[in-house]
Amino acid sequence: MPDYPFAFNVPLLGGRPTRYDVHTARTLSAMNGQYADQAAYAALLAQGDVVVYEVYEIKRPEVVGELLHGISIVHPGRVGDEYFMTKGHFHAELATAEVYYCLQGSGRLVLETPEGDWSVQELRPGGVVYVPPRWAHRSVNTGDGDLAMLYVYPAHAGHDYGTIERQGFRKLVVERGGRPSVVDNPRWSNGNSET
Ligand code: PA5
Ligand code: NI
Repeated sequence: MPDYPFAFNVPLLGGRPTRYDVHTARTLSAMNGQYADQAAYAALLAQGDVVVYEVYEIKRPEVVGELLHGISIVHPGRVGDEYFMTKGHFHAELATAEVYYCLQGSGRLVLETPEGDWSVQELRPGGVVYVPPRWAHRSVNTGDGDLAMLYVYPAHAGHDYGTIERQGFRKLVVERGGRPSVVDNPRWSNGNSET
């Protein structure tokens, strides 16, 4: 069967796209070890395992030439003073980029390279963030409502979650004095053991 063009709609004021093939819901329990304040994480989890973020994805062959695309929705909330966020990842094929278009809500895209460069970009409706090749990325919801984004990246990129699970991101986005603030991650580790 030939591969025909297709079209779909993304609601600008929230909700699921009119077409998707895969829906993933990531719960708080799946984020074990990712938040800096582990006591706050355990206390929140004890109240119930809430959904932190969801992804609606169009399925495409994961080969060079194809583009994976979909909608990610990070729900509002905090673990201690750290805002709800995605796990974050490098692309397994490190030299692949990604484009984010913010549809709804407010937040930050936290980025870093294996060499130690970092960047925090603001996400507001209508805003585009370009993630160059080699930059790990994590979406953080700093608002009171859902943070919804359209993303597009090369279908052969793959995901390396392990590096971030082991070492975290160098920077955290936390609430300080009622406002989002970027701070050093006290638990960041580059894998070197301390003596
Ligand atoms: O492709 C992306 O980078 C996004 O669609 C993310 O996969 C999405 O935001 C979910 O984050 P993560 O894959 O880090 O769990
Ligand atoms: Ni990505």
